[in-house]
Amino acid sequence: MTKKILIVAGDGIGPEVMGEAERVLGWYKQKRGFDVTVEHELVGGCCYDKHGVAVTDATIEKAKAADAVFLGAVGGPKWDNVPYEGRPEAGLLRLRKDLELFANLRPALCFAALADASSLKREIVEGLDIMIVRELTGGVYFGEPKEITDLGNGERRGVDTQVYTTHEIRRIAEVAFDLARKRGNRVMSVEKRNVMKTGVLWYEEVAKLHAEKFADVKLDNMLADNCAMQLVRNPKQFDVIVTDNLFGDVLSDIASMLTGSLGMLPSASLGAKDANGKANAMYEPVHGSAPDIAGTGAANPIASILSLAMALRYTFDRGACADLLEKAVDAVLANGLRTGDIMQPGMTKVGTVAMGDAILKE
Ligand code: NAI
Ligand code: MG
Repeated sequence: MTKKILIVAGDGIGPEVMGEAERVLGWYKQKRGFDVTVEHELVGGCCYDKHGVAVTDATIEKAKAADAVFLGAVGGPKWDNVPYEGRPEAGLLRLRKDLELFANLRPALCFAALADASSLKREIVEGLDIMIVRELTGGVYFGEPKEITDLGNGERRGVDTQVYTTHEIRRIAEVAFDLARKRGNRVMSVEKRNVMKTGVLWYEEVAKLHAEKFADVKLDNMLADNCAMQLVRNPKQFDVIVTDNLFGDVLSDIASMLTGSLGMLPSASLGAKDANGKANAMYEPVHGSAPDIAGTGAANPIASILSLAMALRYTFDRGACADLLEKAVDAVLANGLRTGDIMQPGMTKVGTVAMGDAILKE
């Protein structure tokens, strides 16, 4: 059946990097028979300029109907002072909320040619391929009560509340186990059950689900503080890491810096599967709209192109196509091509389109 992709390229370098991802997508349509229709919509500052809001209801409906949404980046100084509904981030947040994207996937993939750009030694990061699955819509960022109260005498008290239900834990763990089956078949579940009740519940529910449905996947458990250490000491021990919103926020940022530049990092956010097995999905580079280099043709398109690889693997079940794309990126880097953000001595500096060309050629 024909698949549907909605592209929202956004602002700044968004359209420049998405343009390259779309060219690669076109290659898969032509050369690999990938049966897909593509539509474009506005989200972010560009949408505010045209419609007075950062995302329209019609675009939200199209995003829900699509098999996958590809987002470039939104925002820029031009819209820093517009009212809330017009703010570019409000468009992105509404998209995430209305599509109920509760699972955030942040891979950390280290290409051999860039291993020396990592903050760690080459032998620790070369060939690294881990996936952090972060719960995105629950936990301490959203739990109630959430307040600052005045206790008198100049004393104040701040409260945030960590809350997780069985349902929330099971659905994020299910995403992690499913992903593991498409990768190295190992899951590390991360919490702090030694000091947190939500950690105990997390540990127990993940173990139950594992026994019920995923006994073929190897499951291990680790305390979050130890996980932070292990990510820096020996990151290659991990395949899929599943954790809550707060720990996932911190651990995914640690993991991403093992691999080099912001311009290299893809991400995905997934919703629940419906009765037909279709899940809402949004794929996007981790970086923003980079107003400092927008319009100069210098942006690195690799984060967007690797986001397409994630979509091929996780939404469209085309793992071989995704492998091919990652191999092409690896080869281009090994040949010495670099955009400005990942430039190293002795390498050849290229712009956005030339990088796209080189990846297409490989
Ligand atoms: P940014 O990620 O846009 O840029 C940070 C630095 O990294 C800049 O020096 C930029 O030139 C560089 N950079 C980023 N992506 C690059 C790429 N693909 N190739 C080469 N260099 C790249 O973050 P910043 O500057 O904090 O935010 C700029 C705008 O983007 C703001 O309006 C912010 O709100 C928005 N933003 C949007 C996000 C999204 O749409 N998901 C995420 C983060 C920021
Ligand atoms: Mg963060």
